Amino acid sequence: MNPIYEKTSAAVRVRPAHTGDTEAVRAIRNQAIAHSTALWTQIPQTPIEAVAWLDAHLERGSAFVAEVDGEVAGFAVFGPWRAELEGYRHSVEDSIYVREGRHGLGIGTVLLATLIDAAREAGHRVMIADIEAGNTASIRLHERFGFRHVGTLPGVGTKFGRWLDLAIMQLPLQ
Ligand SMILES: CC(C)(COP(=O)(O)OP(=O)(O)OC[C@H]1O[C@@H](n2cnc3c(N)ncnc32)[C@H](O)[C@@H]1OP(=O)(O)O)[C@@H](O)C(=O)NCCC(=O)NCCS
Repeated sequence: MNPIYEKTSAAVRVRPAHTGDTEAVRAIRNQAIAHSTALWTQIPQTPIEAVAWLDAHLERGSAFVAEVDGEVAGFAVFGPWRAELEGYRHSVEDSIYVREGRHGLGIGTVLLATLIDAAREAGHRVMIADIEAGNTASIRLHERFGFRHVGTLPGVGTKFGRWLDLAIMQLPLQ
């Protein structure tokens, strides 16, 4: 394992994900689906879907988890942006989720640092973050790493009975 992918702060240990993390990652993802507008769906991920979803990231080496006290407290992945068209193959999109009750402790920061290093190491050119425009924690997190807000698509989504705006942020990796 390349040590660049393993960053340790006082209490948080970030490491590459493995198949044994599938259920912990699914639980954090489903928590965000149920309680937030971070993911624009209300349909929880099934155990079978979670295996397929994480496996695709594991094959690419693009999934990481953060452990606090030996428990998975968050995860981060990057994946293709607009995978159906090969002309976008040098751009990747990031996703970061921290377990409720562990927000604001620096876990997202360590995860995003690791993710950017890994995407750069893999030779990608641009990282894109699509963020619900009212998600100030995520916008602030991405700003800290130099992501620039390049535009907002108003009213392109809906959840919990209201329309949602999508803020698009971008970081050059090279
Ligand atoms: C967004 C998220 C990943 C950030 O991770 P985190 O571990 O809570 O964030 P950190 O503690 O590393 O803090 C990162 C920055 O965000 C800011 N931040 C954290 N929580 C915040 C909040 N509730 N409101 C405003 N800013 C906040 C921090 O102040 C920090 O910026 P600063 O150092 O300039 O003060 C996390 O809150 C989360 O999982 N939220 C729910 C899912 C989600 O929205 N994921 C992103 C989808 S795009």
